[in-house]
Amino acid sequence: MTDNSTSLQPLTGSVGVSLSGIDLTTDITAAEADALRSALFNHCVLILRGQLLEPDDHMRLAEVFGEPFLPWYYAKNSLEGFPKIAIVPNFGKAKAPAEAWHTDWSHMSTPPAVSVARAHVLPETGGDTMFSNQYVAYERLSDGMKEFLAGRRAKFVGSRPKAVQKMAGTSDTLPKAEREPVINHHPLARVHPGTGRTALYLNRPGEAMVAIEGMTEAESLPILRFLYEQSSTPDNVYRHQWQPGDVICWDNRCAMHYGVHDYGDAERTLHRITVGGAE
Ligand SMILES: [Fe+2]
Repeated sequence: MTDNSTSLQPLTGSVGVSLSGIDLTTDITAAEADALRSALFNHCVLILRGQLLEPDDHMRLAEVFGEPFLPWYYAKNSLEGFPKIAIVPNFGKAKAPAEAWHTDWSHMSTPPAVSVARAHVLPETGGDTMFSNQYVAYERLSDGMKEFLAGRRAKFVGSRPKAVQKMAGTSDTLPKAEREPVINHHPLARVHPGTGRTALYLNRPGEAMVAIEGMTEAESLPILRFLYEQSSTPDNVYRHQWQPGDVICWDNRCAMHYGVHDYGDAERTLHRITVGGAE
């Protein structure tokens, strides 16, 4: 129990927790906000079930974790009247950017802190989301590897999606700076401000995370691939089967996630708010 009204149920031995006893369609008390933050920061993924939220309720919940943020190039994919709520549809199996272990938007100067997604339309079967605990991924490394990682930053790369570029015209008409890949460097091992624990910060090696600062890509990639592969072994993963009314909060500072695309062209739409990021 976190206080008199809420209760926590861990979902695996390593990652994820379900919190019940909060009605998110009304104001969130200070004690409830503390319980939500504590549950998320400590367990990396927080599941809230049976929450039939309106967009205003979704915004109120997200604001518990920080300032909502949506880059300009996603604005056309936002919910009418709610420019910070992104509509995430089924892009199709061939364009399933989430079907790999990843963290969202790691190329940004300040990558997102927390994502808050709710089910809008779910396929009849499939469409699970998996999560891994990056505190655990760090803690089980050897002392030698932890020493190697101390203070080391990696080069993270991203590009604004081509389809989104088209919203502003063809990519040729965009300013040059908007067409070029976005590059930022971040520590591979970061201290979470809410818990003081160190977590690995990773993304897809050779694509979104390409080198360790001061080293060549050829030198870096075996290390980056090792860190990435060992971080999401089955004993460090929670797999969520979405149900109507589910809200999932994940902490990009201590979790990676993976969208399983086993639902073909069936409709699957989430509404997602991202907090704490900056380009
Ligand atoms: Fe994602």
